[in-house]
Amino acid sequence: MAATLLRRGAVASRRLCPAEVLRRLVSSEAAPERAPSRTPPEMPPFDHQPRPYAGMAGAEIFEKRKAVLGPSLFHYYQKPLNIVEGKMQYLYDEHGKRYLDCFGGIVTVSCGHCHQDIVNAVVEQTKLLQHTTTIYLHHAIVEFAEALTSKMPGNLKVVYFVNSGTEANELAMLMARLYSGNLSMIALRNAYHGGSAGTIGLTGLQTWKYPIPQGEIHHVMNPDPYRGTFGSDAAAYAKEVEEHITYGSSGRVAGFIAETFQGVGGAVELAPGYLKLAYDIVRKAGGVCIADEVQSGFGRTGSHYWGFQTQDVIPDIVTMAKGIGNGLPLGAVVTTPEIASVLAQRIQFNTFGGNPVCSAGGLAVLNVLDKEKRQAHCADVGSHLVERLKSLQQKHERDVRGRGLMLGVELVTDRKEKTPAKAETAVLFEKLKVGKGGLHGNVFRIKPPMCFSKDDADFLVEAMDYAMSGI
Ligand SMILES: Cc1ncc(COP(=O)(O)O)c(C=O)c1O
Repeated sequence: MAATLLRRGAVASRRLCPAEVLRRLVSSEAAPERAPSRTPPEMPPFDHQPRPYAGMAGAEIFEKRKAVLGPSLFHYYQKPLNIVEGKMQYLYDEHGKRYLDCFGGIVTVSCGHCHQDIVNAVVEQTKLLQHTTTIYLHHAIVEFAEALTSKMPGNLKVVYFVNSGTEANELAMLMARLYSGNLSMIALRNAYHGGSAGTIGLTGLQTWKYPIPQGEIHHVMNPDPYRGTFGSDAAAYAKEVEEHITYGSSGRVAGFIAETFQGVGGAVELAPGYLKLAYDIVRKAGGVCIADEVQSGFGRTGSHYWGFQTQDVIPDIVTMAKGIGNGLPLGAVVTTPEIASVLAQRIQFNTFGGNPVCSAGGLAVLNVLDKEKRQAHCADVGSHLVERLKSLQQKHERDVRGRGLMLGVELVTDRKEKTPAKAETAVLFEKLKVGKGGLHGNVFRIKPPMCFSKDDADFLVEAMDYAMSGI
């Protein structure tokens, strides 16, 4: 979640085998303290005084949480952080200690924590009217829908608002099935599309899949340039989509869904040209094409506003959540009027979808991103960060990838076999307090609030170098 300064001399400088590294981490207090070979880097200055915190201590929350919340919840770090305040790209724990947020609440804080314009929009709307439903008229929902569709290419002009990415993908899959009259969905291996019964089926990572009926889903090969069987050969992966349809379905499919930049799967950008080929094949088989922009939308990739634009395609349905609300529970499905109309054969209703408060907040997010030119900023800071991370790549075994502020650093023990460096990652994860992903948990995901600066990027790289040099 956040990169922080390192405890002095916490990691011995002698090179340790992964098992030893992990053992020492688990009993970290037993690890010998060594004098640091150099001083830890310093976080850029920031003019914000956090409020004194008088609430429950982290240790107590942790205990209570175990008693009253579901046991499936997971947490990061041996001693989970109790974050009590946020301002732009920085977070503060219960003791007032500052952290640089490199993960944005899992790619959700787009404009910055507690961005003043968004806070104002939400507070003003809350004071006036917190809730109605779409049964009644309200200006905020149409203003937001107009602003959102103005960002879309082609005929993507109709919005359904929901509350999360999972709901958005559920609705998109429902529309694909109703519109096409077919059942089969095609999704990518290594994808994450949500945690509901339906979207668990679309997800292609066993970590997130409960043993329930997965629906009529075909998981095709992941066009992953780094680990994929065909490297960056988009045509070879696309042929496999065709073969799935030919051999594994009636020949007709409902749709295809993909993230252009896999997030949970470990910051994987699809092989260039893949979506164009896959979309053609799917459309010929009667299916619609869905772009899951839950993580990659709203200019985060720097080069484009939407992830799918990096592949020069126009989807039939686009799903979004996370960054759309800067932390508000908000999701959306944008599609063509023709596809949207299939839901009119019954009543489609969502109590909170498009509620006045989230709509006002969502509109404020779009305005801030434009006003503060965040897409260009992501391109600028992102290319600086990638360059600096790549210079580290010469020193430590890793793959640096991504665009803008949608980056990943995959740690491997050897360049040829690409063996995941699980133990080293675990140590660094603990020391740096960063976010991670990928099936083996060996990819640092760097997706900070989009106000992250070049100074922040330098600090992150120096902190990584410092931590890695110690292993
Ligand atoms: C690409 C993608 N799609 C869908 C989802 C599900 O979103 P939510 O957790 O808001 O339901 C996520 C969540 O991480 C995601 O990364």
